[in-house]
Amino acid sequence: MINLGLQGFSRNALLKIGVWIGQGRSAHCLFLLLGLSLTQLLQAEESATGEHVYQEVCSTCHGQNVPRAPQLNNRKHWAPLLREGQAVLTSHGWVGVRGMPARGGKPDLSLVAFSRAVAYMARSAGGHWPDPDAAMLAQIEKEVAKREAARRKRMAR
Ligand code: HEC
Repeated sequence: MINLGLQGFSRNALLKIGVWIGQGRSAHCLFLLLGLSLTQLLQAEESATGEHVYQEVCSTCHGQNVPRAPQLNNRKHWAPLLREGQAVLTSHGWVGVRGMPARGGKPDLSLVAFSRAVAYMARSAGGHWPDPDAAMLAQIEKEVAKREAARRKRMAR
């Protein structure tokens, strides 16, 4: 329940609350309050569900029929992608591929949050991909490192 409550807050709302409470007090107090709300924001991100991240970040393309973007609930779009496997596909999306911007175009998105959104979309289209645990995240990070190394090599040519 706490998670849901925190997710309901937008970044701005939390910052505004921090400023509002901080007004009229010492600058130190203001910073303290802002610091606290930023910590809460980070926690909110870590606990954000895949569905929430999808709605906030991915749905503009993956739910609006942007050309080539595999759509939510579309088994035909997702079938070949599911075959790539969770770690590989998640890493490709994270690094970016053709029309897919790195990190879904949101540079401050965490890998955990991004991975959950991928798993959520995969499940919507018949995949059995759980939210990643620590072992899966480690695999995803390994694939990301490989992908980035390959990209650097291509650029160096
Ligand atoms: C600006 C539009 C846009 C946004 C926002 C976006 N995507 Fe995509 N995404 C695309 C497009 C277009 C493709 C297809 C890329 C291609 O194959 O040309 C794609 C492909 C993908 C793929 C498949 C990658 C592959 O290897 O084929 C995954 C996974 C993915 N997106 C995840 C996400 C997630 C998760 C988010 C949100 C955090 C997100 N995307 C946000 C446009 C977007």
